[in-house]
Amino acid sequence: MRRPTPAAWLSALALAAATLASVAPTPEAHAAPRAAAPVAAPTTLTGPELAASWTPPLSTRGRYVVDATGKRFKLESGNWEGAQGTWKGSGDVNDDANHHAGINAHDIPKGLDRVPMATLMADFHSLGINSIRLPFSNAMLHMTAPVPDRAVTANPQLRGLTPLQVFDEVVAALTADGFAVILNNHTTTSRFCCALDGNERWNSSQSTQQWIDDWVFLANRYRTNPRVVGADLRNEVRRDVWDDPNWTTGDDHDLFKAHAQAGRAIQRANPELLLVLEGINWYGIPLDGFDHGRPQLKPVVNLSHTFTRTDKVVYSAHFYGYTGPRHSGATGTGETHDWRYREYSPADLAQVVRNEAFVVHTADQHYTAPVWISEFGVGGRGQTNAQEMAWWSTFIDILIANDADFAVWPLVGATTNGVPNDSWALLSYAADGTRQSITDEADWRRTAWQRLVDAPSQQGPIQKPVRWNMLNTDYGDDNASALMATRPDWDSGAAKGTCPDSERLQGLSRSTGRALCTDQRQPLLTDVRVTVKDERYVTNGDWASGYSKLQCPANHVAVGFSERSRAMSGLLCAKANVTLSTSGRNVWFDRGDNRPAGGGSTASDWAPGYYKGQCADHEYVAGVAYTWRWSHGGVPDALLCRPLP
Ligand SMILES: *[C@@H]1O[C@H](CO)[C@@H](O)[C@H](O)[C@H]1NC(C)=O
Ligand SMILES: *[C@@H]1O[C@H](CO)[C@@H](O)[C@H](O)[C@H]1NC(C)=O
Ligand SMILES: *[C@@H]1O[C@H](CO)[C@@H](O)[C@H](O)[C@H]1NC(C)=O
Ligand SMILES: *[C@@H]1O[C@H](CO)[C@@H](O)[C@H](O)[C@H]1NC(C)=O
Ligand SMILES: *[C@@H]1O[C@H](CO)[C@@H](O)[C@H](O)[C@H]1NC(C)=O
Ligand SMILES: *[C@@H]1O[C@H](CO)[C@@H](O)[C@H](O)[C@H]1NC(C)=O
Ligand SMILES: *[C@@H]1O[C@H](CO)[C@@H](O)[C@H](O)[C@H]1NC(C)=O
Repeated sequence: MRRPTPAAWLSALALAAATLASVAPTPEAHAAPRAAAPVAAPTTLTGPELAASWTPPLSTRGRYVVDATGKRFKLESGNWEGAQGTWKGSGDVNDDANHHAGINAHDIPKGLDRVPMATLMADFHSLGINSIRLPFSNAMLHMTAPVPDRAVTANPQLRGLTPLQVFDEVVAALTADGFAVILNNHTTTSRFCCALDGNERWNSSQSTQQWIDDWVFLANRYRTNPRVVGADLRNEVRRDVWDDPNWTTGDDHDLFKAHAQAGRAIQRANPELLLVLEGINWYGIPLDGFDHGRPQLKPVVNLSHTFTRTDKVVYSAHFYGYTGPRHSGATGTGETHDWRYREYSPADLAQVVRNEAFVVHTADQHYTAPVWISEFGVGGRGQTNAQEMAWWSTFIDILIANDADFAVWPLVGATTNGVPNDSWALLSYAADGTRQSITDEADWRRTAWQRLVDAPSQQGPIQKPVRWNMLNTDYGDDNASALMATRPDWDSGAAKGTCPDSERLQGLSRSTGRALCTDQRQPLLTDVRVTVKDERYVTNGDWASGYSKLQCPANHVAVGFSERSRAMSGLLCAKANVTLSTSGRNVWFDRGDNRPAGGGSTASDWAPGYYKGQCADHEYVAGVAYTWRWSHGGVPDALLCRPLP
């Protein structure tokens, strides 16, 4: 992100201009290098060492990313940007002055004009990172003209290739050197991000389907390279002139739904990719007196994603010191009287960052997942803003305290006459290849950076957690079962929710299509599925006299439900590979929540505003009771919970 100049932002109401993201401090007169205590370089690995240190593909266990052997793989990453576009959006695209910090990346990752690929790989290793976030623009994928020779001066082997072909070579070089690569859909049109640049939403200037199709194209393209580990679906979704993104509306504004659709499509093409889902970066009108702010990952606590592969979701958020929880980052025109992150005390900042992001680390909730802070950064040499400098150190301490996965912005820049064009870069190269690095004594950021990459962290094998996942049929089927996707529709016309095949149904809500699934003490389930739409299996006595009941056959557990206009329509039951108890108890939730104290996911609300029923962790759902009397409308009133062996 980091748009360097304020862009005019005019709403139809002709409100005053403001910007959504802002003014990065421009490098001023070059300050003399600050005296810093000598420190050793970060602990680094060579390419072969890095490659040997982990086994793809990656997945998640609780709040940790793990490799194929179940060992923690902390994403310690940098953004190698350029392929998302650097043009600032006005003026001749061929004039370097019209590109961010005067560097025209020609729609490929930066630096290939100045040093050979092998030097870039070695320099990335010298920073102590193990993975790369690789932004690209949708437009880049479709460019047919070869990159100009001057874009690849130091890498003649890349001459004559299209930007996508260069991108392929970059991915191949990175993964051969052991780096994990996360593809990041940054922009639609090829230009430097942010503010009102026509790239605010996933469907800006194009259809949601085109966005999904492009992801499937990429998922397939790198399918045979397992070190391409993730798809970061969309960068910094934010308000455009007219509209806000949302997390629940179910329409074209719903980022939650767009993530769900694209994630499903990607999992069908390549189920091994991590799905990186960023929260909402900005909503509202950035003027004093108007509602606005940065929801980030806060909405996830009430509504999280459940995919067929439940162990693939990573949530992400971005933090820059000059922006704030309600501050767009603008300076001067369009600046509001909200706090910037860098203005908070360290303790308050830690709390703010927890609320906006690390809350997702909370164990045993439906939303529990790793959080990757996939952008943060600060201007290095020439920096004169004391708050920005303090922010860097304070924010890094917060990353360390949370043992967080991270990606610094950006890795590669250029220098002109010894001065960095973009002082935020960790590595900057002169035309002759001379390097300035964040690890040099002359870079004040070096001490904190080293603290970050050398920080003590959870390592080694991570236990498989119990999983809790929510279903949401508010806007149609929520089908997380791979098995059911291969079978005919089991309740045509009804809204259906099915748990992932590794899980069973554990709770239902009233009057909204939300449910909870888990694999806690999960018995082995066979492939037998029985659809229940009447009382034929109510065989061990009437457990809810006067109510309509849907009950699974003996030795079957509920794994899905269906509703019509909120009224219960059916239960989907899976035959267990064990004999199950026929004793049980009723869990009524027609007059209030009824969830087990201290049970799984009870510290989070998977159906805010509605009563919920949930069996105890050692039980399964064997039946659901409902009625049309007393204007209950057929919505669920009680669960029949039976003990698991
Ligand atoms: C994207 O969604 C918005 C909001 O509903 C809609 O107005 C717009 O037409 C959509 N864009 C495209 C290209 O379909
Ligand atoms: C990237 O996002 C843009 C904007 O939503 C979309 O047009 C494009 O299809 C996406 N590309 C991929 C590969 O996701
Ligand atoms: C989504 O819209 C609802 C209702 O319009 C609003 O209350 C909520 O704050 C919005 N959520 C976000 C994350 O913008
Ligand atoms: C960056 O590089 C260009 C050359 O492409 C140079 O003309 C310009 O002065 C530099 N800009 C900054 C901000 O350092
Ligand atoms: C969900 O299951 C139904 C069968 O009930 C199937 O028709 C549909 O394609 C599945 N949907 C997804 C997204 O897998
Ligand atoms: C039950 O599980 C056992 C052991 O995994 C397996 O051998 C057997 O085939 C299963 N039976 C059914 C009906 O799936
Ligand atoms: C989550 O739902 C609760 C209960 O309705 C509500 O108080 C809270 O504001 C919601 N949180 C967010 C971030 O929307």
